[in-house]
Amino acid sequence: MISLSPDEKEMLAGNQGLDKKRAMELLVKYTEALGARKLVNTNNVTVILGAIPDVGIIRKIVPTLDVDEIASKFFLDSDDRVVVSRVKAFTTTNAYFYDQRYPDLQRGGKEATELSKQIADYCARIGIVHLSTCTPYQSGNIPTKGEHCAWTESSAIAYCNAILGARTNIEGVQSSFASAITGKTPLWGMHLDENRYGKVSVKIELSMDNIQDWYLMGYYVGMHVGLDIPVYVNSKRTPNLNMLMALCAAGISSGSIVMFHIVGVTPEAPTFEIATGNRKLVKSLNFGERERRVAYEKLNHASRGDVDIVMLGCPHYSLERLSSVSELLKGKRIHPNVALYITTCRTNKYVADGLGFTETITKAGGILFEDSCGTLFDVDRSKVLATDSAKLVHYVPGMTGLKNIWFGPTEQCIEAAITGKWRGELT
Ligand code: F3S
Repeated sequence: MISLSPDEKEMLAGNQGLDKKRAMELLVKYTEALGARKLVNTNNVTVILGAIPDVGIIRKIVPTLDVDEIASKFFLDSDDRVVVSRVKAFTTTNAYFYDQRYPDLQRGGKEATELSKQIADYCARIGIVHLSTCTPYQSGNIPTKGEHCAWTESSAIAYCNAILGARTNIEGVQSSFASAITGKTPLWGMHLDENRYGKVSVKIELSMDNIQDWYLMGYYVGMHVGLDIPVYVNSKRTPNLNMLMALCAAGISSGSIVMFHIVGVTPEAPTFEIATGNRKLVKSLNFGERERRVAYEKLNHASRGDVDIVMLGCPHYSLERLSSVSELLKGKRIHPNVALYITTCRTNKYVADGLGFTETITKAGGILFEDSCGTLFDVDRSKVLATDSAKLVHYVPGMTGLKNIWFGPTEQCIEAAITGKWRGELT
């Protein structure tokens, strides 16, 4: 039995409206199922309301596509039509919304794109800030150290816990929506000090001077740690934003790394002893040349050298990466048989437009998407993809059916976009 505060009891009793009642019922059941005893206040939620079934399935259940009914059924798991008044917590949207300009390039086409817009409008109506990004920390949603959050989206979870020192579990569509409405989330897992200590040491043997190596390290370590928290030691450099994004995205793709420490870098790891809480380690790993190659080979699955699609921007590209990619494309033209898709958040797209990056990418024949996600693109499964994201390599086969994938640094991907051939190798 969980213990509820007076305002939680009020919401559960329905004294603050049907929306809060249904949301609280859902959270109570969820908390009990987790074996947690209490809820904790949160004023920072990211919802993933675009991650719902295909529009054809939704239409079977809600033939009118009435958005309040869709929200009730799919976001709140309620058979009643619940009209949400306004969310209680500061809430932003995660990626998984469609770029409205390109309905034909995203799965589900026009109908799915329109529904996505309807849901985005719904979010605005109930007070959710429609950032639509898997990197909310790039767009002004930056929780502080120790802040309790209810975030969705795998790579952002690791960033929230490990880099910002804020606290979140991986929330789903329904639990995050219920947290947005009530300002509560179950007090368990990453919210508790005792679950945040490192259990596996990883000795970094390489200089780690490029983004690709951070993807490879995250991918390799993710394959070996299970649910345990790694502590990276011996880092010879302070990783920048892009490297940390890569580490977060890769580690949660091949594994379940929702939290890690880098001694001397991340906020809960000023020393190895503090990062581990002086507890016994369950394992020790190294990351050197051999391990780097193992990860690289695992990520390169293509059987032919012709490249049809190049996808960049997973997680959503930073301004620095947009600047670099636009520099690489200046005065160039991508191969007529190749599609170049780059995804970024709306805020970065706005700046990229103003600085001419978008124009350079477009003139070269590429598309800079705002919102959206590589796994949403409608691609022919027989095609060959090249990407600089280990996360995309991991998810694209399951989400799109496309199996032939090359992974390498951005420069090699852009070269493939221009020549139509993959010539990349591990250097
Ligand atoms: Fe973002 Fe989609 Fe990658 S949500 S992290 S671009 S898989």
